[in-house]
Amino acid sequence: MSKDSVAIFGGRGMLGVDVATACAAAGHVVQAYDLPEFDITDPDQVREAVTACDVIVNCAAYTDVDGAESNVSEAHRVNATAVGCLGELAREYGKRVVHISTDFVFDGKLDRPYTEADEPAPINEYGKSKLAGERLLAESGCAHCVLRLEWTYGVHGASFVTKLIELAQVGNTLRVVDDQIGSPTATTVVAAAICELIEQKTEGVYHLANSGYVSRFGIAEFVVDRLGLDVDVEPCPSSSYETPARRPLNSRLDCGKIQALLTTPLEPWQGPLERFLRQIDEKHSGYRRCGIHRQQLR
Ligand SMILES: NC(=O)c1ccc[n+]([C@@H]2O[C@H](COP(=O)([O-])OP(=O)(O)OC[C@H]3O[C@@H](n4cnc5c(N)ncnc54)[C@H](OP(=O)(O)O)[C@@H]3O)[C@@H](O)[C@H]2O)c1
Repeated sequence: MSKDSVAIFGGRGMLGVDVATACAAAGHVVQAYDLPEFDITDPDQVREAVTACDVIVNCAAYTDVDGAESNVSEAHRVNATAVGCLGELAREYGKRVVHISTDFVFDGKLDRPYTEADEPAPINEYGKSKLAGERLLAESGCAHCVLRLEWTYGVHGASFVTKLIELAQVGNTLRVVDDQIGSPTATTVVAAAICELIEQKTEGVYHLANSGYVSRFGIAEFVVDRLGLDVDVEPCPSSSYETPARRPLNSRLDCGKIQALLTTPLEPWQGPLERFLRQIDEKHSGYRRCGIHRQQLR
């Protein structure tokens, strides 16, 4: 089968690097685009990139969830207007788009995992901008697939997991919210799934996460235990931990729809997270460098 030429917008971001690596390993011709030389809000640059490929994977985004509360127009310019423009150009030139979205399109008030059929109702500006992007892409009429992710982590960027480790380096106690529930998800898992979706020319909206659910407090306990960090982890409610942007409490995604397309089952979150912790420990020796007491990885 002939391989696609794949353009990855946001190709130097946490997810984008892993998508580029996975697509190249699958035999695709890959071109990564990112700031500062490529700006998704510049239609001329987007046109040039769109005409030079078969498929665009859009990982570019304004991802500062708290920052979006005070930079509303910038978040919307990158996450919504530019995505609509990308869709129009993709339709004009007959190209396919795989667009990355988020669980933050939901308000988190449901008492079960969210399916793709559930009505989005974002509770922060980041979520509103991402939902607007999904809708503008759909309205453009291009062939597209939207992947809603949650709680991603990877070796090429900062995440909840890496922030936990940073915080563990400066204090003896970590206070972590125990009422936000979701699934920590490895960017490598997402990248492998994106390769399959490209091959299958999949269209529609899909939820994607590692399987199983856990609170952010539960993740902190797991990370501290596996790294043998010498810190206490205390649970607290979101109401006692004020941030500029509200977070949904229920971030559980029902991934049954995408699971039916994938060749392998989505792995429980513990395995990929443990491998990630081993990988960053081997790569950076971060805990030793920062003087943290560290036992053998278990
Ligand atoms: N991280 C999560 O927990 C999570 C959860 C759900 C969904 N997502 C989604 O996953 C996707 C990938 O995010 P990520 O986690 O990989 O975050 P990331 O590391 O911040 O990647 C985003 C990339 O987009 C680039 N970018 C920002 N503005 C741009 C512009 N105007 N033109 C071109 N590139 C631009 C960023 O460059 P700079 O770094 O130079 O700004 C960065 O390289 C996003 O759509 C995000 O909404 C993430």
